[in-house]
Amino acid sequence: MLTGGPNGTTWERGADRGSGDGSIHTEEDMADSGTGKGNTLSVRDNRTGREYEIEIHDGDVIRAMDLRQIKVEDDDFGMMSYDPSYMNTASTRSRVTEIDGSRGILRYRGYPIEELAQKGTFLEVAYLLLKGELPTRKELDDFVHQVTYHTYIHQNITKLLDGFRYDAHAMGIMISSVAALSTFYPEAKQIDDPKVRWEQILRIVAKMPTLAAFAYRHHRGLPYVYPVNDFSYTGNFLHMLFKIGVRDYEPNSVLERALNILFILHADHEQNCSATAMRVIGSSQSDPYSALSGAMAALYGPLHGGANEAVLRMLTEIGDVKNIPDFMDSVKRGERRLMGFGHRVYKAYDPRASIIKDTAHEVFSVTGKNPLLDIALELEKIALQEEYFVSRNLYPNVDFYSGLIYQALGFPVEMFPVLFAIPRSVGWLAQWEEMLEDKEQRIARPRQVYEGYGERGYVPLDERG
Ligand code: SDX
Repeated sequence: MLTGGPNGTTWERGADRGSGDGSIHTEEDMADSGTGKGNTLSVRDNRTGREYEIEIHDGDVIRAMDLRQIKVEDDDFGMMSYDPSYMNTASTRSRVTEIDGSRGILRYRGYPIEELAQKGTFLEVAYLLLKGELPTRKELDDFVHQVTYHTYIHQNITKLLDGFRYDAHAMGIMISSVAALSTFYPEAKQIDDPKVRWEQILRIVAKMPTLAAFAYRHHRGLPYVYPVNDFSYTGNFLHMLFKIGVRDYEPNSVLERALNILFILHADHEQNCSATAMRVIGSSQSDPYSALSGAMAALYGPLHGGANEAVLRMLTEIGDVKNIPDFMDSVKRGERRLMGFGHRVYKAYDPRASIIKDTAHEVFSVTGKNPLLDIALELEKIALQEEYFVSRNLYPNVDFYSGLIYQALGFPVEMFPVLFAIPRSVGWLAQWEEMLEDKEQRIARPRQVYEGYGERGYVPLDERG
């Protein structure tokens, strides 16, 4: 049964999972488009001469399960779609984040990212993503209080952190320590209880900055600085990172605000690689800490959230504007990637990149300009003009300028993906909870097209060639 929703139609919870016989009909599905066949695909299987009417939903979506009715023999499995890397497959319905890649639009729960970055705070946006609505003053005060009073981590976690080498990559430390949190909160396995879920969500949102700051301090060989409840979310994070000795540390308001904006921009991005990992792991009813550590592992890759670190290494390697032509030639020869450029969805300028670029200038007014900025600006100028990049819709993405800010703030490159993971944990949790509440979702288990050997007999060891 189709009911009115954000795109004019949405599935009522508990809707038919796709009987595979293409038999889901409603008034609008039968709208006459001149063929008298309504919103359907007419499919003719030339192997059998049979014809099928496959329902089209939401304007241009078909249910893959409706293909299964297409068979040669009645006892066949039925037709499947093959889509490596899910280039053209919707894995879920969602109301969290909307991206229009051709127009460079990004909205959280309908609110444009530009407005949220300019007018909101990170915890306010976190509440929006998690609860679906902007909080009232009371709701926000209560949420901020809850998060503020969950920032401590069990002291035993510091023993886990101390076990890492001094030069251990911060993301490796974070992935391990978030997974370890699942052992401190075994009740988190009760994923069907909204109250228990919310308690874990508060803990994760609150503890990610603490874990990140402790990972940084371990890397620097500095004592841990514990959370202080007087500071804002990002102010407390800066305090735990950069306070030295007994000297008071007051976060710089420009840097505090810049970190807020960066956190808002990184909070969610619909069904990206790491959000998909969160949903897939969560679909087996794993606890949220274990699922989150898997999502962080996906984010760690240089093609995803690890790109901000790769961008800084690339800019450092280029070293000078005069080296850019040779570097770009190597990219065009396919020997390198221009890290921080390109996107699976955006075929226009990533709206986050332009906000980050503007924020960089504010940060540099406090920290001094990052000398690598000139190289970055020249790379962008060339890429936006040259046919190789233009023809492939390669624009700066969220990771191109963010690292310049992080470096100016004093972070080592190993911390860059961690600075992505902190805010993105909110998006992962919003996606995770939406998946759990979606009655159409079951454990994720794709099919395959088998190309291996047919049956063959065991060969004794001494007879193998
Ligand atoms: C994030 O999904 C999300 O929403 C992610 C994210 C989020 O918020 O969660 O936005 C965060 O991960 C941003 C992306 C960060 N990654 C990078 O900056 C790494 C560099 N970019 C790429 O590797 C690439 O653009 C991807 C991974 C982002 C997208 O890859 P696709 O969609 O699979 O595109 P592709 O690799 O198939 O490339 C298409 C063509 C290829 O050329 P041809 O084979 O057709 O000749 O474009 C080329 C690629 O070689 N290409 C690049 C390039 N990106 C793509 N060539 C040079 N430099 C690049 N950066």
